[in-house]
Amino acid sequence: MAETGSGLALVGAGSLGQIFSALLAASGQPATLLARPATAARLLAAGSIRLTGVTELSVPVAPAPAPAGTVGVTGDPARLPRGAGLLFTTKGHQLAEAIAAVRAAWPAAGDPDAWAGGVQNGLAKDDQLIAAFGAARVVGAVTITGGQRDPDGTVVLTSRGGTYLGEFPRGISARVEAAVAALNAAGLPAEAAADIQSVLWSKAANAVGVFGVSVLTRLVGPRMMRRPDLARAYLALIREVDAIARAYDVRMGDYINFPIKSYLDRTDEQNIAYFSSRPFIPGAPGSREILPSMTQDLLAGRPLEVDAVFSDMVARAERAGVPAPRITLVRDLIRGLDPGHYPE
Ligand SMILES: NC(=O)c1ccc[n+]([C@@H]2O[C@H](COP(=O)([O-])OP(=O)(O)OC[C@H]3O[C@@H](n4cnc5c(N)ncnc54)[C@H](OP(=O)(O)O)[C@@H]3O)[C@@H](O)[C@H]2O)c1
Repeated sequence: MAETGSGLALVGAGSLGQIFSALLAASGQPATLLARPATAARLLAAGSIRLTGVTELSVPVAPAPAPAGTVGVTGDPARLPRGAGLLFTTKGHQLAEAIAAVRAAWPAAGDPDAWAGGVQNGLAKDDQLIAAFGAARVVGAVTITGGQRDPDGTVVLTSRGGTYLGEFPRGISARVEAAVAALNAAGLPAEAAADIQSVLWSKAANAVGVFGVSVLTRLVGPRMMRRPDLARAYLALIREVDAIARAYDVRMGDYINFPIKSYLDRTDEQNIAYFSSRPFIPGAPGSREILPSMTQDLLAGRPLEVDAVFSDMVARAERAGVPAPRITLVRDLIRGLDPGHYPE
């Protein structure tokens, strides 16, 4: 039988799924983690989730439903808690399969409070969630919490980042406030966003710009932004996303680590001077010399989230009749490099 209660549950036991569930459980809050059956079995055999990086933590796991202080792990969507907010933490190209598996068993009949959100980069995930669960059940979510997995299974929390949640098309609700409170209590800074579309599009613009330049140059963010040629390429990409956003009546904003409105309001020269003025000591703590996730995936030979980030944006541009030649070129180049599209 599924656990009755509320709180948050995660779908996908990767970096973010393990970080969110471990920190929620460590703060005494309910935390259920739905993993693929083989991964669930592996986690349960390990007995704990180990986090390193900005925190050092080992959090016990047990079959869901688990007692307080423990992450409840399951491979069975029917064991997801009632009344919970379900955050999908799979990669973008894994989302359709994960949604289909969850939708077959969740939400249970008579569970009006259950809702779903996704932390994937890009805008496609909310369309997919709404198509599966209905608009009323979907909350907009954006996170810049940083995590990666070491080969031995240890999860590295590289930055607590920030998470934004908000209702579509706009507004804040009791369920959003409750989820924001839960994340903050877990030590994951979170905010309720009255205009989540602005946050989503601003993050999507940053993803198109950062991944577009970094995947094709294999440079870390701070290094590429200090090269005027590459800063101009980033800015050209986010200006194209801005034109598409405007066609959908969305305005960019300034958010933690992606102050897109400020970048758009300044000239390229002003931005280049700003990027160059930021202190950056390679290798020093806080220098954040970490490759963007899509570049990490490229170098590790993993499939890229190119369709969720680039192809979806090109499709939105085409539907709105807005030219997006730069994003289209970058989409083609990155798809051409993608092991997911062209396995060796
Ligand atoms: N990591 C970050 O710093 C960060 C920051 C902001 C946004 N994001 C976005 O957040 C998403 C997740 O990133 P991540 O780094 O956490 O990815 P990740 O480490 O690759 O984790 C994805 C997890 O999803 C699991 N999964 C795949 N299909 C599934 C299914 N059908 N049912 C259950 N679980 C399934 C995978 O399971 P297996 O292990 O069994 O293969 C994997 O553990 C991405 O879209 C990323 O762009 C990440």
